[in-house]
Formats: sequence, C-alpha cells, structure tokens
Amino acid sequence: MSRIAYVNGRYLPLRQATVHIEDRGYQFSDGVYEVCEVRDGYVIDQRRHLARLQRSLDELGIAMPMSETALAIIMRECMRRNRLHDGIIYLQITRGVARRDHGFPPPGTHPSVVVTARSIDFAGNERTAAEGLAIITVPDNRWQRVDIKSISLLPNVLAKQAARERGAKEAWFVDQDGHVTEGSSSNAWIVTKGGKVVTRPADNAMLRGITRTVLIEVIEAHGLQFEERPFTVEEAQGAREAFLTSATFTAIALVLAVTALGPVRRPLTAPEPVEVEALAAEAA
Ligand code: PDD
Repeated sequence: MSRIAYVNGRYLPLRQATVHIEDRGYQFSDGVYEVCEVRDGYVIDQRRHLARLQRSLDELGIAMPMSETALAIIMRECMRRNRLHDGIIYLQITRGVARRDHGFPPPGTHPSVVVTARSIDFAGNERTAAEGLAIITVPDNRWQRVDIKSISLLPNVLAKQAARERGAKEAWFVDQDGHVTEGSSSNAWIVTKGGKVVTRPADNAMLRGITRTVLIEVIEAHGLQFEERPFTVEEAQGAREAFLTSATFTAIALVLAVTALGPVRRPLTAPEPVEVEALAAEAA
C-alpha cells in the first residue's frame, strides 16, 4: 500500500505529494512542525500538540491557515488512508509560496500545510528503552529561540549524525555553562543518587516537550521527588540514571553517558517503566 500525504488541500500518494520550489519552508526553513505519537489508533496528546503548534506559529507571525477542528479531521483522514494504528503523524506549516525575498511575503500568501503519517515499530523502541542507549554530548550552537518548534533543524541534524558516527543514538546539547539543554530530538532527564528526578526548566534554550510536560504530571501525581533545574554532564555521569523523552519515545529510554571526551560509562539500571496507560488516558 503506497503511503498517502495531505498537501495543501489534497490527499496524494507520497510520490506525487510535492511542494513548490519557492515554498518558504524549502528556501528559508520558514515554518513550524509537530510530531504526534499514534497508539492503538489514538493521537496521543493531540490537544497539547495543536496548542504548541499554534504557539510556534504565533511566535513566527504565521497565521494558522485552518481551524483546529479542520486540522484534526485531516490528521484522522491521513491515519485512515494510511491504515495507521501505531506510529506518528507529522504536521508542517510554512509561510507559503512566494518569490524569494527574505522579508515576509505579501499579505494574502497562504501558508502551506503538509500532513504525513508513518507506522513505527514501538516494540523496537521499547527494546531500546530496556537495553539503554548511548549518547554523546555536543556544544549547543543553536539560535536562542529553540523553544519554537521550527523546521530549521540543521544543528540538530548535525548533532544526530555525529552521534550515529560514534555509535550512539542521541546527542545532548551542552550550553556554555556546561549545562545540558536537551537532546537533538528529545528532552533530557536524570535521576540523582538520592532518587530525585531532575530536568531543565523549559526556557528559550530548549523545546518544552509534550512528553516532558505529561511525565512531570505523572511524576507529581505519584508524589516522586522532582526538581526542575539545569544539570551538568558531570552530574549526569554521576547520576543513578539518565533518560530522554520525546513523542516517539514515550517509554523512558536509558542512556549510557558518553561525553565528547570521555569513555562509555557503565550501563545504568532499568527504571520502572513509565506508565503509558496514564499518558494515553490523559490524551483521551
Ligand atoms: N522531536 N527537544 C527537541 C529538540 C525535539 O525535537 C523533540 C521532539 C523534543 C521532545 O518533544 P515531544 O515530547 O513533544 O516530542 C525535545 C520530534 C519527535 C521530532 O523532531 O521528530
């Protein structure tokens, strides 16, 4: 079955699903995106993802081209046409098609909307989560508004590739003070020796992950010790555990901390599995 994508009003086989070469997303990375997890045919945390999408658009001054309800219908239709049960929905909205000029295009330029759906082998992710994965650290050389989920991801792409070339699965960005900001496509967490779960406050130096927000709620509901504060690579190396979260990694993934300089540390012990049911219930 060939995959079907939504592009500016039409559902098309992927091969025919194209955008104009003067789309500002293509030429300037002038757009935003969301990745939503789909489990058992349900979009997890849809409301929060669409709220974050709206915020990203507002921050960049791009008008939301349709109602949230209309966008939700398109997401459902993409799932239906792709027979998606478990996987991800990708949404992208750019400032639209216009003659190349750095300034904003004339009023009336329609934002471009693309929605795709893809199956994911969550069992593979869960195996990875159980086994743990290796990370590297890289200097955080990104712009100062990475809280906006923009499609401008070149430093993230380079960081992920650097990780892969070193046999790791993720790269943690480290700021000038030695604090971990986040992963190239995930948020970063540690559990201290004293059992406190720690993650950085969601400032402009990182993306406020939806999975992160939900997990904080789960942690608080369970009365676990929790602190939102920056942590260093050294603290992560000495921590009891470290893990990451993203829409494609609902379950906690362990990491082996590999610094840019240092050797692989010990494998860390498996955590309690995160409560996927609790997350799904929240989304319903
Ligand atoms: N990435 N930080 C960055 C830089 C991310 O790209 C992501 C998600 C996250 C976690 O956010 P959430 O929990 O809302 O997925 C944090 C998606 C999955 C991606 O780009 O594919």
